Amino acid sequence: MKALINIALVAIVAVVIFVIARSTLEIQDRPQVNNCVGECYTAYLAENGTIVEQARAALEAASAASPADLGKALFVTCAACHGAGGEGSIGPQLNARDAAFVTDALSTYKSNVARGPQSAMMFAVAAALSDADIANLAAFVESL
Ligand code: HEC
Repeated sequence: MKALINIALVAIVAVVIFVIARSTLEIQDRPQVNNCVGECYTAYLAENGTIVEQARAALEAASAASPADLGKALFVTCAACHGAGGEGSIGPQLNARDAAFVTDALSTYKSNVARGPQSAMMFAVAAALSDADIANLAAFVESL
């Protein structure tokens, strides 16, 4: 009788282990919706390159951009008041100005020194600009 119970116990344990092992395998077989592995990752690499390659490409693009290109990207924040082409609206027309004029005006606003009756509108804008930003914006405005 004892031997029979032992055999039954061993059989039950074996079945439990088999079921657990099977379910673990099934989990690994499921499509992994949140993970891009295997073919998905190969396709991603072919399309985008590795993360390091992406970072290097972004750096190269940034260092290859001319000051005017960089200024153009910044000018998006100016366009609301000065017009997309610098033709002027709330703020004065800029597209006839050269780089020296723009650099001087922005530096003056950055020091919170008034140049005209509405300079307060430019104080906050200029405060956020670095010297490099000002040089890039000046190059872009001159190109307009
Ligand atoms: C909220 C509206 C506004 C935004 C945004 C703005 N400006 Fe101005 N800007 C003005 C106004 C108004 C003046 C005239 C200020 C004065 O009376 O001194 C001005 C003046 C200037 C001047 C001097 C023009 C002149 O003829 O004396 C320059 C240069 C200039 N802005 C560049 C920029 C650049 C570059 C940006 C974006 C980084 C920018 N502005 C964003 C409203 C704006």
